[in-house]
Amino acid sequence: MSKLMEQIRAKAAAAGKRIVLAEGEEQRVIDAAAAIAREKIAQVTLLGDENAIRAKSKGLDLTGARIVNPQTSDLRAPYAELLYELRKDKGMDKEQAFRLAADPLYFGVLAVKAGHADGMVAGCVHATGDVLRPALQIIKTAPGISTVSSCFVMVLPEGSPYGDGGVLVFGDCAVNPDPTAEQLAAIAVASAQSAKSIAGIEPRVAMLSFSTKGSARHELADKVIAATAMVKSLRPGLDVDGELQADAALVEKVARLKAPESRVAGRANVLIFPDLQAGNIGYKLVQRLAGAEAVGPICQGFNRPVNDLSRGASAEDIVNVTAITAVQAAG
Ligand code: ACO
Repeated sequence: MSKLMEQIRAKAAAAGKRIVLAEGEEQRVIDAAAAIAREKIAQVTLLGDENAIRAKSKGLDLTGARIVNPQTSDLRAPYAELLYELRKDKGMDKEQAFRLAADPLYFGVLAVKAGHADGMVAGCVHATGDVLRPALQIIKTAPGISTVSSCFVMVLPEGSPYGDGGVLVFGDCAVNPDPTAEQLAAIAVASAQSAKSIAGIEPRVAMLSFSTKGSARHELADKVIAATAMVKSLRPGLDVDGELQADAALVEKVARLKAPESRVAGRANVLIFPDLQAGNIGYKLVQRLAGAEAVGPICQGFNRPVNDLSRGASAEDIVNVTAITAVQAAG
């Protein structure tokens, strides 16, 4: 485990937050819950059928973890009422709300909305859209924020010359398929904030493109240029520059040739991708080809923390994302 992840787990343990693991019947989640309880990273609630969960937890100590079955829970009816009130203007009726309140993904975010939990983690069974949609509908964005997005903390193997001691933040790699310039600016601001609060690094943000400082002319590069200007006006104190190619952002020698005036080029530690195709492909290439630990996706901008897992997530990944969720809940 990287030093960074050890620090995040320790911070989470100190925060003592209540986190819902919505896919409680999944073996990897049960294994993770046992590890979370053992290390006291959070107080977890597993959603699902208690008999099914107990059958899969033989030999594991789940003391300290709660198990709640949304289908039979006394909270289903009040949560359905809460859901109905929140969504009736969008056409939801009471029957629909009662049915949805038994869905662990809805029950979990409703528990967070109701203040019965501090955050939710899911996604090793369900697709990203299915995890995020209830959260977008119910938890909504934090005050002053219009776009939920995501980032990964990428931890490169020891000795890497990139980022801060091999730590970089990549955004958005999981949520917004085709962001507008405004959304791209919001992604950059939120990723810079996550770089500080989760990765513990002082952000130097590169707005990535296939062009560096006008080397190519295209409307796709223009979007990145516009987003960069917006970030500068939103956060005047933030070190941000664009549009930059990835090599100009990361490699000093290249930066001296392509963007000699830039304070960020050659030393960027936060990389903002122009759209989800680039971001999702980019983080997976670095993870697989460079052997980086990819911590996330970490959702940014929700009013209360909800995080999505990759469907390939291991029990260890689930523990890590739960720890990050607890740290986000602690503010
Ligand atoms: N920020 C804030 N609010 C949003 C956002 C956003 N980024 N996206 C949607 N919303 C709001 C909508 O305004 C709407 O609000 P309302 O119902 O109260 O009016 C609500 O959320 C639901 O919106 P929909 O349009 O129904 O949701 P949509 O179908 O657009 O889904 C989603 C949103 C799920 C985020 C979609 O954009 C998506 O699927 N993104 C890609 C996810 C993905 O597949 N990622 C890759 C895999 S992840 C990995 O590899 C780690």
